[in-house]
Amino acid sequence: MSTATLRTTDREDIAGRLLRSSAKASYDPLTTIDWETPVDPDRYAIPPHRVSLYGTELWDQLTEAQRKELSRQEVASVACVGIWFEAILMQMLIRHAYDLDPTSNHVQYSYTEIGDECRHSVMFARFVTRMGAPYYPLDRVGRFLGRFFKATSNGPLTFSAALFVEELLDQMQREIMVDEDLEPLTRAVARLHVTEEARHMRYAREELIRDWPQRGALTRAYSRLVLALVALHATERLIHPGCYAKVGLDPKLARQVAEQNPHWRESKTWFARQAVETFTAAGLMSSRLSRRIWRKAGLIGPTGDAA
Ligand SMILES: [Fe+2]
Ligand SMILES: [Fe+2]
Repeated sequence: MSTATLRTTDREDIAGRLLRSSAKASYDPLTTIDWETPVDPDRYAIPPHRVSLYGTELWDQLTEAQRKELSRQEVASVACVGIWFEAILMQMLIRHAYDLDPTSNHVQYSYTEIGDECRHSVMFARFVTRMGAPYYPLDRVGRFLGRFFKATSNGPLTFSAALFVEELLDQMQREIMVDEDLEPLTRAVARLHVTEEARHMRYAREELIRDWPQRGALTRAYSRLVLALVALHATERLIHPGCYAKVGLDPKLARQVAEQNPHWRESKTWFARQAVETFTAAGLMSSRLSRRIWRKAGLIGPTGDAA
């Protein structure tokens, strides 16, 4: 049996398992999540140490009620970025499946994942409203970059960018879902997303690791650079400055304080650690320029290592 046949068989076997798991454990957020119970203003929506201003002088000046409000606005802002990225991912998966055989398990899993992401985006949108937050829209540059990326990504970029955002949210949400002091709605949304995203991450990792070694030096260099830029631009937009205005802070000043806040930087490095580990092992972070961008984004430590 040739290596190519072995690879195809494994790919189909893994996708078959993912399809069976999807059939058993997929959830409709509109019916499985309690949207009726009012959000508790006395609880944090995310752990306080994950709020972007935690540990700063500005944080000390806020009342406990303002800090909790900021936690709700920030998690809503992250949900808006999640919706943005899910739209990008859905288009990339459609492009991926377009030329392939739909009777194969791996293409059927691609369609299944698109279905999951549709439900997640509706869930996140409803969640934003329940957090008492507005829709935090992307700036024009971010919107343009997303539009370009979703129309042009190659195989390694589709699955590495998917893995980056999914791992980031996964780290965040795993911490939230087990913390009984937090707002129950945030925990319920986190739990549902973590369950379904575990399959997406497996799929993305498999596709990436299969595709990457077959690519030439030029494509690899381009992909390393673009992935680093995706990571930088997505991370920079996690917290919309409008969140700070919602609790009476000067949005420009608060954004600067957050950017320089070592606690927030540590959180970002922690959110990204699984993705960084996978990319480092696979050779997606081995150029000096890309590592410089990852470091600028606060996603690897000052010496260039994951925390
Ligand atoms: Fe999702
Ligand atoms: Fe996903």
